[in-house]
Amino acid sequence: MTTITVIRGDGIGPEIMDATLHVLDAMRLGLSYEFADAGLAALERHGELLPAATLESIRRNRIALKSPLTTPVGGGFSSINVELRKRFDLYANVRPARSFPNTKARFPGKVDLVTVRENTEGAYIGEGQEVSADGETAVLTQKVTRKGSERIVRYAFELARSTGRRKVTVVHKANILKSTSGLFLKTAREVAAQYPDIACDEMIVDACCMKLVMQPEQFDVLVTTNLFGDIISDLCAGLVGGLGLAPGANIGADAAIFEAVHGSAPDIAGKGIANPCALLLAAGQMLDHLGRSDEAERLRSAIVATLEAKDALTPDLGGEGNTLSFARAIASRL
Ligand code: NAI
Ligand code: MG
Repeated sequence: MTTITVIRGDGIGPEIMDATLHVLDAMRLGLSYEFADAGLAALERHGELLPAATLESIRRNRIALKSPLTTPVGGGFSSINVELRKRFDLYANVRPARSFPNTKARFPGKVDLVTVRENTEGAYIGEGQEVSADGETAVLTQKVTRKGSERIVRYAFELARSTGRRKVTVVHKANILKSTSGLFLKTAREVAAQYPDIACDEMIVDACCMKLVMQPEQFDVLVTTNLFGDIISDLCAGLVGGLGLAPGANIGADAAIFEAVHGSAPDIAGKGIANPCALLLAAGQMLDHLGRSDEAERLRSAIVATLEAKDALTPDLGGEGNTLSFARAIASRL
């Protein structure tokens, strides 16, 4: 019996989590769930956004499946998601983008790539954020380390090797951001030299975005720094039909948190029409991480079969189903 921490989250979070657990239960995986609160739900119940009991649960179980959390605007707390990544040093943000049938994607059947985003440094360290007294000038500190670059690039090459992928593209802007992106690129080249079996190319981030839109099929694994990875992974989600199909894993040495790329979608919360696939696909990544790739494949196949049959698809995919009927349709194809 493996125990995982389950965070039902805010907005559409509880709806897509119920749907996801319905499918996981139908798989009879022998998982047991330890429910914990974070975000607005935690603020309402416990008076704080990230209770110690939640951190303790993740520390103990080392695996969490998490719905989106709403970050209250204003106040001292930047983002609970960023905070969780920091607390557990979840340095690798792994975001696969894969074409599925019957989506509104522009490139049906062409995309199968993974963005590996450095998750703890770069422009997101939250340091040195200052606006001058006259409000005319703003500055921000970015930080890239050799250690941080080394471990994320190594993660990307190891992922390529273990999943039978052939190429890693290092995405950077070292021509302009000479210090930070320069150190990332230099370190990436050193790591790449240790993986002669995996092809490696380098691409400047702006050109990379253009090529992703023109010829997404030429990409396999992309590895990059925090801000570029955040943007590129959303671009890739767009290529395959939107946020409802985009999962992500946040992986560290001691813990891992699996979640959808999308947020709490306040505009459709409570209506029961959110697409549960992103969180379900994140659960698939979780099963891969637990060494149960056969079960992960079983889950993904059921999702693909349901999309192919256009059975109970949610409105974002052009269907007339709802969150739960879609999940039931997937569960019936396991
Ligand atoms: P969002 O991703 O929640 O929504 C963007 C658009 O996509 C909306 O129109 C929404 O209805 C649609 N959408 C998102 N997920 C969907 C799904 N599963 N099925 C169908 N349609 C879906 O982004 P937004 O509105 O910018 O952020 C809302 C809140 O979520 C904010 O408080 C933000 O901080 C938080 N957020 C949390 C994340 C996390 O917990 N990892 C990630 C991103 C945002
Ligand atoms: Mg983002």
